[in-house]
Amino acid sequence: MKRFHALRLPLFGLLVALPLLASAQKKPVKPMDFGQQEFLSQCASCHGRDGKGNGPIADLLRKPPTDLTTLSRGNAGIFPMARVYDSITGDNVQAHGSRDMPVWGQTYRIKAAEHYVDIFYDPDAYVRVRVLALVEYINRLQGVGKP
Ligand code: HEC
Repeated sequence: MKRFHALRLPLFGLLVALPLLASAQKKPVKPMDFGQQEFLSQCASCHGRDGKGNGPIADLLRKPPTDLTTLSRGNAGIFPMARVYDSITGDNVQAHGSRDMPVWGQTYRIKAAEHYVDIFYDPDAYVRVRVLALVEYINRLQGVGKP
């Protein structure tokens, strides 16, 4: 009987700890946020991890990278989706003068060609999917850090 008493505390501890451990393991895995991942790996160097335009290489550019969190505010509260899309693909680049913002439409087109070397694919659809993921993520950044 004495032995049983000595075991009671550790047994009780196990009873409490096991369900806790089990519930910790059941935590849902966060789904991959493709737009965010792409933004952090391709855009944050200039636009900053928070999109506010203060990335580590921003100072090296002639023109400061746009604060991407205030695009709706500067457009009467409406997210300027078409403009943002064209800014990313490079479709609204002016005919004259060079800009510091890379032309992603072309970059993704090249990536697609490298990826689907000998398989039929739609280059326009590939570019659209990748750019739309970024547009959707930038839409979610609107108003971040707003007072
Ligand atoms: C090498 C630095 C650099 C990188 C990398 C970069 N940008 Fe830019 N971006 C700029 C600069 C500078 C501007 C300011 C406008 C210009 O130069 O045309 C800009 C402007 C923009 C605009 C225009 C906003 C408006 O007012 O319409 C959008 C949208 C944008 N960037 C999105 C992105 C996205 C998305 C990525 C990643 C896929 C990215 N940028 C990567 C430098 C960069």
